[in-house]
Amino acid sequence: MTIRRPLIAGNWKMNGRLADTAWVERFQDALVASEVDILVCPPATLLHAFGELLASRAIALGAQDCSPEPDGAYTGDISAGMLKDIGCSYVIVGHSERRSGHGESDALIRSKAEAALREGLTPIICIGENLDEREVGRAIETVLAQLAGSLPEASAEKIVIAYEPVWAIGTGRSAGPDEAQEMHAAIRAAWPGADAQALRILYGGSVKPDNAGELLACPDVDGALVGGASLDPRVFARLVNLS
Ligand code: G3P
Repeated sequence: MTIRRPLIAGNWKMNGRLADTAWVERFQDALVASEVDILVCPPATLLHAFGELLASRAIALGAQDCSPEPDGAYTGDISAGMLKDIGCSYVIVGHSERRSGHGESDALIRSKAEAALREGLTPIICIGENLDEREVGRAIETVLAQLAGSLPEASAEKIVIAYEPVWAIGTGRSAGPDEAQEMHAAIRAAWPGADAQALRILYGGSVKPDNAGELLACPDVDGALVGGASLDPRVFARLVNLS
């Protein structure tokens, strides 16, 4: 039986200034010893400052996106090699806010995940249905199609999947444990390799201290990708302590 170490990740999105690096000390002060992997993904402008602060702590650093290309003439983009260089070990790719806000396709997301893997980073590949797709009963079909289109060639322990129902992101309405478990089990069953039990599948979408316990207790939920609640170090520490 493969034991999957839980991962609690914070996605700060487009929030934060240099003064917010104080988050690290406040988080550490509120953290009880934990048996989970901890990851924080601040905006690109704060990665270097966080990298220096986190280097000596058991907190991993991640980015919120990366280019599919290596270094070169791509104005404004950031390569996976650059992220590695400043201490990142994870990178979120295919977040629904980029799929919708930047028109990112499954193929582009796969190429970003491949770029991350080439640099030894762990891609966190985001998939999730919108409310219309859920209401007409096409949630699983939609999510498995995204999974199939976005997956790079990789063994399960080299990547992380984040199931984030779009209708739960930023709304305060998370998926219930039954909905989350059903989708996570479907994702695991659809994994193309024989190592599905080693695949970590995170849930994201309005994770808060009052719902995290029941979500994280689901057998196929291996952690959480947390947005708003990760901005407050004490709240994020409560989520980690709950895991
Ligand atoms: O990537 C995590 C994010 O999409 C979830 O956001 O604010 O609903 O926890 P939030």
